[in-house]
Amino acid sequence: MGAGDHVAGLVDAMHADPHNGVMTEAVATGRVAVGIEPEDYDRAHSGLHHSPLMRELWARAMGDEYPSQVEPFSSCSWWVLGRAVAGLRLRPDGVLVDLGCGRGGPGLWLARALSARLVGIDFSAAAVELAASRAPGFVAPGRAEFRRATLADTGLPDRYADGAVSIDVLPFAPDRRAVLREVRRILVPGGRLVATVRERPAGEDGWAVLAAEAGLELESSTVHVGHDDFWTRLYALWEEHEAGLRAEVGDAATDNFLREAAGSRTSPHRERPPLLLVLHRTD
Ligand SMILES: C[S@@+](CC[C@H](N)C(=O)[O-])C[C@H]1O[C@@H](n2cnc3c(N)ncnc32)[C@H](O)[C@@H]1O
Repeated sequence: MGAGDHVAGLVDAMHADPHNGVMTEAVATGRVAVGIEPEDYDRAHSGLHHSPLMRELWARAMGDEYPSQVEPFSSCSWWVLGRAVAGLRLRPDGVLVDLGCGRGGPGLWLARALSARLVGIDFSAAAVELAASRAPGFVAPGRAEFRRATLADTGLPDRYADGAVSIDVLPFAPDRRAVLREVRRILVPGGRLVATVRERPAGEDGWAVLAAEAGLELESSTVHVGHDDFWTRLYALWEEHEAGLRAEVGDAATDNFLREAAGSRTSPHRERPPLLLVLHRTD
């Protein structure tokens, strides 16, 4: 199976039934995922890692909000990093878990800024390998590790994390309630999750309800201004630089990126604001 098959399936599902099963989560972001299998993300992460053009386009789309050393595969901007610092309230040597860490940039940057120890979780083998290779550029040996696992089953012990972060990941999870239960389980009492999401659809349970069901309190919800404009600019740049991307990241990854761009343009879910949430385990 090619990644393109999956992405094409995703776009079709979006048009056929935007509230259907696993597709609901990806479609609900207002973006169409580059793929829904770990192998699709492997291809995307390797593409970003090895493509100066891809990183340049990201930087151009984000402008002076681009945290260059982080090299996010997401909307992780200076604004997001600043909010995460303020929201996490970690003590030195606290344990930070990055859920859906990708190539590790946001978690590594935060771990260095907060003198925290980092565990990154991702189901993409390429992501965890590339993240580990980048760790020495941010933190001392032994201060960061990366594990291949899913959001809903991290394999981490109960009450392990003093804080958790998840940038542009939760909306893609097949079962967000299960992920929030897992977050509650791994957080210490008093610990917080900072996560980027999109507002829930009208008529469905909101984030405060989902959080409460999992035993978490929605401490704050802030509109992520500029998020949708950033993606619109990035998608246009991908389309403009298709030939260059094909040369640097290959046809399969480029096809996925272009499908994401085309599918997202028609998504009705962009009407719901992108949010940055802080969820608190109070007991
Ligand atoms: C949009 S990327 C964001 C990566 C990173 N947070 C960043 O800001 O650069 C989403 C990441 O979530 C991971 N992911 C998606 N669904 C997952 C799941 N169910 N379990 C674990 N990782 C998942 C993907 O492999 C990918 O690395």
